[in-house]
Amino acid sequence: MKVFISRAIPEIATELMEKAGLTVTQFPDRRNMSRRELIDACLQHDALLSVGHEHLDKEFLEACSHLKVISLYSVGFDKIDVAEATRLGIPVGNTPGVLSAATADTAFLLMLAASRKAFYQHKKILNGQWNYYDPTADLGIELYGKTIGIFGLGKIGFEMAKRCKGAYDMKVIYHNRSANPEAERELGATWVSFEELLSQSDVLSVHTALTPETKDKFDKTAFSKMRSNAIFVNTARGGIHNEAALKDALESGTIWGAGLDVTNPEPMAADNPLLQLPNTAILPHIGSATVEAREGMARRAAENVIAGLKGDSLPYPVNP
Ligand code: DGY
Repeated sequence: MKVFISRAIPEIATELMEKAGLTVTQFPDRRNMSRRELIDACLQHDALLSVGHEHLDKEFLEACSHLKVISLYSVGFDKIDVAEATRLGIPVGNTPGVLSAATADTAFLLMLAASRKAFYQHKKILNGQWNYYDPTADLGIELYGKTIGIFGLGKIGFEMAKRCKGAYDMKVIYHNRSANPEAERELGATWVSFEELLSQSDVLSVHTALTPETKDKFDKTAFSKMRSNAIFVNTARGGIHNEAALKDALESGTIWGAGLDVTNPEPMAADNPLLQLPNTAILPHIGSATVEAREGMARRAAENVIAGLKGDSLPYPVNP
């Protein structure tokens, strides 16, 4: 059985799959594969380990309906048409759990960086503007005892809330479709409506999947209901906030700052005006970029491939 990996990932994935008797090919170039290249490669293989959020839509799935399993090297599965894969009988797997701590660390880092305008201050040094000690310029805000609002309290949201509670004794509120008893018990978290989340959060951190319901959820109206001292953090998917509305909210002082690990589109253009604002901290989608998380993802992705090619249920399934 032959497996195709669409870009280099930690070697443990290949080691595990070869140990299971599979033949593994990895796309050698450091670039995105074109749609045609990906389909042609898949036609020569039995399984795809998809890295880098390739767009696996209906057209792709129909062209590659022979695949016995598609294993995503991500926890997010917004780039694959899961309903279509299910209809075609293709099991789809992802990599939950192993990247929760790393992604929450990134959200925490962005919250702090935005609260102290850290990226902007760093840029000032690079621009030769560190020439005068000004006790009144570019002041930050402190987080101790403030309220953290979590939009989507799953594994990653829980880890972010835990950090905020532990480090700054922040009050935790959250909005989810259903209550999270563990977070209520362990962190004293309180479920609130979306409107209350907007109006009560000093920091609002997004940890939900991108779905038709969450697309553009943070738009002009939502930002207008947030506090003027609020920091908006998004480490989930760029499509959940409306970028133009966010820029307006930051420029007009409707909200205080933003920390983003995800943008729309990705990659973000180097001349994007959001990068020039003093109150933004922006990273290039590195939420899971730790040795530990990426190795864990490689293991889970390989385990999904091995199970799928054996005809077993996937250990980390996405299909309902
Ligand atoms: C994920 O796993 O979905 C992250 O965004 C990293 O790709």
